[in-house]
Order: sequence, then C-alpha cells, then structure tokens
Amino acid sequence: MKISTVSELLSQEITLVDVEVKGWVRTFRANRFIALNDGSTINNIQCVVDFENTDEALLKRITTGAAVHIKGQLVESQGKGQKVEVQASSIEILGDSDPEAYPIQPKKHSLEFLRDNAHLRTRTNTFSAVMRLRSSLSFAIHKYFNENGFYYMHTPIITGSDAEGAGEMFRVSTLDAKNPPLNEEGNVDYSQDFFGKESNLTVSGQLEAETYAMSLGKVYTFGPTFRAENSNTSRHLSEFWMIEPEVAFMDLAGNMDLAEDFMKSVLSYILEHNKDDLAFLEQRQIQEDKSKPQAERNEMTLTEKLRFVVDNNFKRVSYTEAIDILRNSKPNKKKKFQYLINEWGADLQSEHERFLVEKHFKCPVILFDYPANIKAFYMRLNEDEKTVRAMDILFPGIGEIVGGSQREERLDVLKEKMAALDIPEEELWWYLDLRKYGTAVHSGFGLGFERLVMFATGMGNIRDVIPYPRTPQNAEF
Ligand code: 4AD
Ligand code: MG
Repeated sequence: MKISTVSELLSQEITLVDVEVKGWVRTFRANRFIALNDGSTINNIQCVVDFENTDEALLKRITTGAAVHIKGQLVESQGKGQKVEVQASSIEILGDSDPEAYPIQPKKHSLEFLRDNAHLRTRTNTFSAVMRLRSSLSFAIHKYFNENGFYYMHTPIITGSDAEGAGEMFRVSTLDAKNPPLNEEGNVDYSQDFFGKESNLTVSGQLEAETYAMSLGKVYTFGPTFRAENSNTSRHLSEFWMIEPEVAFMDLAGNMDLAEDFMKSVLSYILEHNKDDLAFLEQRQIQEDKSKPQAERNEMTLTEKLRFVVDNNFKRVSYTEAIDILRNSKPNKKKKFQYLINEWGADLQSEHERFLVEKHFKCPVILFDYPANIKAFYMRLNEDEKTVRAMDILFPGIGEIVGGSQREERLDVLKEKMAALDIPEEELWWYLDLRKYGTAVHSGFGLGFERLVMFATGMGNIRDVIPYPRTPQNAEF
C-alpha cells in the first residue's frame, strides 16, 4: 500500500480507510499514544496503540527518536486538537533509538545545545519549521524571477577577482603549505599553483552576472558566497547564500522598485503557503518575549511584521538626509551611540541603521546615494562627484539585508576609480570590455538569503537559519 505522509493524513477528509505511515516517534504516552512526525508538516499525527494486544518487548522499543512503520485505520479522533488519528494494527520498528542517549529529549533545549547537535536539530519543531520556511523562500525566489523574465545564471565559485575589493577572501590552492614555490622576490609563486594564478572562493557573483545582463538582459544568481571577515556577530556567516539580480538598461530607481517588489512577493508567498510553520514560530516568539525586559519585546507578532512589510511602502531616504537625522537624534546627542555621528562621510554602523529603521521610521528603509569612498569601486559616480548610486535596504531587527547599486558604465570613470584604488586593469580586463562594447546603464543588488530567513522566522541568530553554519573557528559537520 502507498505510504502516506503525515501532512496528507491530517488533511484527509475520508476516514475508516486503511493507511500506512512512516516517521519518527516524538513522544509515546501511557503505552498508547504515539505522536508521530515525518517532516512533512509541523503537526504530528497521533497513532493509537492497542497495548493489550501488543507484545511488551515491542512497546518498550517505541521510544522518542525511533523510526517506525505503522499500519492501521484512519479514524476520527476522540482527543482534542486533532481531527483524525490512526488506530494502529501493526507497528514495525525500523530503527531503534536509545532513550537514555538520544540528545533530542521531549523538552525545551537551548539553541546553543541544538547548534552542537545540528545533525539532529531538525527533529525539533523550531528547526523543522525554520528549514521548511527556508526551502519555501528559495522556491518563491526562483518563482518570482522566472515569472518576471529573468534567467538563472550559475556564477563561478572559484574566482580570480575580488568583487567587493575588501580582500576578505578564502584562498583556493593546491600548493604545499609547508614548502610553497617562491619567485625571485621571495613571494609565493602562484603561477605554479593549480590555476596558474592566485584564486579564491567568490565573495559575490556580481561581476560575472553583469556580463550576462549585458547580453541576456535580466539575470539572477542564487548561490553560496564566502567571506573571511572575522566578525563573530549574530548576523555574519563565513559561508552564506546570496541572491543577485542584474538588469540591463535599469537605473537606481528601477533597482529600488525591483528590490521592493521582489521582497514583498517572496514574503507574501510564505504568508500564503507556510501558515502552520509561521503560526508555530509566532507562538515561540511570544513565549520567548515573556522572559525579556519590556523594551526588548517585539511590538508586532511575526505575521503582523511580515504583513506590515508586504503592505507598506519602503521609505526611501538619501544618505545625506539620514546623516542629518542621526546627527540630531537623541542617542547621538546623549552620546548613547558607540560611534557618534559628527560629520557627513561617516560609515553607518548597525546601531545607526537600526535606529533609523526601528526608532525613527519604523518601517523598512532604502538608503541611497552614499559617499563614494565608503562603497565599492564599481558603483556609478553621481554628478556631485562625491556620492555614488548605491542603495542599502534596512529591515527592522536585521539592519542591512540588501546591498546594491547602479553600476559605473563609463569606461574612463571606471578606469580612474580602479587606478585610485590600485585595482590592476589586467585582473578585470573582461569587466572593462563591457564598457567598451555596447555599454549601457545597468543595475543590480545582493540579498543575503540567511538575513531574509532570519526576518521571516523571527530567529535572532543567523547560525540558526542555515543547516550547518560556518563561522570563525567553526566548520563542524
Ligand atoms: O552588501 P554586499 O557586500 O553586496 C555585494 O556583495 C554586492 N556585490 C551585491 C550586488 O550588488 N550584486 O552583500 C549583499 C548582502 C548584504 O546586504 C547582506 O544581507 C548579505 O549580503 N551579507 C551577509 N550575510 C551573511 N553573512 C555575511 N558575512 C554577509 N555579508 C553580506
Ligand atoms: Mg553591503
């Protein structure tokens, strides 16, 4: 007979039929009631065991964590909280689980403990909900781009160029670390390395995506990116996934419109398709908030917060306006910011971004036209020659979630900029070629996927929204 999923059984209208289901025991109560979960939904199906006619040795093996195969009849449930249940007629233990040793006991575990047991943490409601939402969001992202005429492009993971110019790259090398070949100057001779030159893991697929935008028109990438920055925060990973659309003939205003429409669309998708998981995470957050001081509690529930983003316009504010607001803000005047804002040109820290979003505007904010010298080399210089056509999207509770820009399409300006920053033209000859042959206005942005999943699930630490987080000093699993 067909094995049904728990999700199928729970939504089935017809009862008194024979069914089969496989899953893992969450709890076994009173030698009678198995709460069974198979990952298809956050909800368990109750399977009722006829314990009087079941071998005692078998009953002992029905323990939390065990994998079981249950045959029986789907009936209307007598109990509260569920419409149907399975009257089990046969139970087969597929895999035992030692109840003393199994780490995931049916009680509340700390997120830290579960991070150490990341291979088992999706057997909890919290992590199964988060990872189903992660999957659903990535589907929604592909769906959005597909429906809007974008091509999915796979940019290389190993690259010779530093797209962000920040020098935070992991080297890819097969040279003998103990005894590398040296050149005449005594430096490591990378011409003898596997790729014949210094190579790294990519920090962004943008530069390659630009080449495809300038022929296919609208493209996007969705892949892993790697940054060797030593920031141990709740919002940084060394390996994270990024979505990067890139569009020919689109300016910065178009870029903002695209980003806003895109974010709203993917969040609407989960509001419609992941109701059970969101309801669970919402309750989780409400419970968590009870143990926090009033000032740190969430003002909106999780679904209210998602709805709010979907239903309201993002506030568009120039960097210059933002600096004025920050300079005159209470925390700046009372010296509450760690980094005080004194003058135009200051780089914004996460405390400033969060002030703007959470205290001042109280909605998602798009900051644009940043000072040229705090942004990457490829951004389009404005007529004022001081600012560039950059944009960052800031979200409540997250801070920067998107970074993007209109790209410098003028060959001479780009060359000057690269020279000023000591970026050799030989390294990016192909990037410069785009400005020689049919150059045009074009723009794009990068969305940090894990930051989006944090926002969508209400999880407070980025390590809890990716299956196996990579952070400084940590690459377990
Ligand atoms: O602002 P970033 O560095 O922009 C770029 O990489 C551009 N090349 C994107 C483009 O225009 N195509 O990174 C984009 C986003 C950030 O806004 C943030 O959400 C996320 O990537 N991000 C990180 N997420 C997790 N861990 C890190 N270490 C991250 N660094 C950036
Ligand atoms: Mg950025």
